[in-house]
Amino acid sequence: MNTRHFLSTQDWSRSDLDGLLDKAREFQRSKLGDELQGKSIALLFFNPSMRTRTSFELGAHQLGGKAIVLAPGKDAWPIEFEVGSVMDGETEEHIAEVARVLSRYVDLIGVRAFPKFQDWTVDREDRVIKAFAKYSTVPVINMETITHPCQELAHIMALQQHLGPDLKRRKYVLTWTYHPKPLNTAVANSALQIATRYGMDVTLLCPTEEYLLDPRYMEFARQNVAENGGSLTVSHDIESAYRDADVVYAKSWGAIPYFGRWEQEKPIRDAHQHFIVDEAKMALTNNGLFSHCLPLRRNVKATDAVMDSPSCIAIDEAENRLHVQKALMASLARPGVGSGE
Ligand code: CP
Repeated sequence: MNTRHFLSTQDWSRSDLDGLLDKAREFQRSKLGDELQGKSIALLFFNPSMRTRTSFELGAHQLGGKAIVLAPGKDAWPIEFEVGSVMDGETEEHIAEVARVLSRYVDLIGVRAFPKFQDWTVDREDRVIKAFAKYSTVPVINMETITHPCQELAHIMALQQHLGPDLKRRKYVLTWTYHPKPLNTAVANSALQIATRYGMDVTLLCPTEEYLLDPRYMEFARQNVAENGGSLTVSHDIESAYRDADVVYAKSWGAIPYFGRWEQEKPIRDAHQHFIVDEAKMALTNNGLFSHCLPLRRNVKATDAVMDSPSCIAIDEAENRLHVQKALMASLARPGVGSGE
């Protein structure tokens, strides 16, 4: 039997995602359970985290399970991912052993592995989590690689809390924002995927064509529109994009054509600091909600006034990470729980 992983929401049916969200709402109402009694999860962080680590560790504990956090290369051996590599460099063990050994110990494996930001043709293959999924005999959960599916669930749950269960045809704006450094496209890819999956009218607002997302995610979004209704529009015009929006979701990301040549992207990025989410832009919306995955640099990506306004639901979304991940762990550790199947 194939092991079921949670690598991308695109691999899960709408009814399965809705089942997870239903279970997450139950966990929000009643936080303790025994769904992970006697079970354990290894959480491997190749990159820093605050929300993901806290919510997975706490979520496992609240369901009677145990989480073990590992940082390969720091408090665990550095891992080799090349097949056939002569391992005479810095890596001490191969993913083939790491994933198989962990599978003998734990019931679930979570992996956070961001791109290296040197070559998108390499990064887009997402080889770290795919290697875990290949060698692991227990379910693997994506804790953010080149998508962030747990954030997607938390985001949709927050939108449903504020707008109601049916999000179809709501105007949803995914806006690029300035950040002094080029950041991962993961949350932007994810926002595009999940907003189109739930039938919203999605506008991708970005400074230039160079900030379009990888064709794979643009295509997923088009497929989702064809299957679920809604629409997908690309815009570089701030005013028309914000006008009458029901939701504004902000994220900064590096322009893919400049991967590995970031000094050449910097002048373009610096010229678009006015993409900051502020009160004047939000005033154009249909009393719209604002959210962000966090962490967020205040007064760079969004102003204090927006972050502190009643329309900001970023804290609700962050809270929901706990609920949706408990639903996910319960579903994967004990198939049939929290699944729409
Ligand atoms: N949104 C999110 O994943 O937060 P962390 O990077 O703090 O885990």
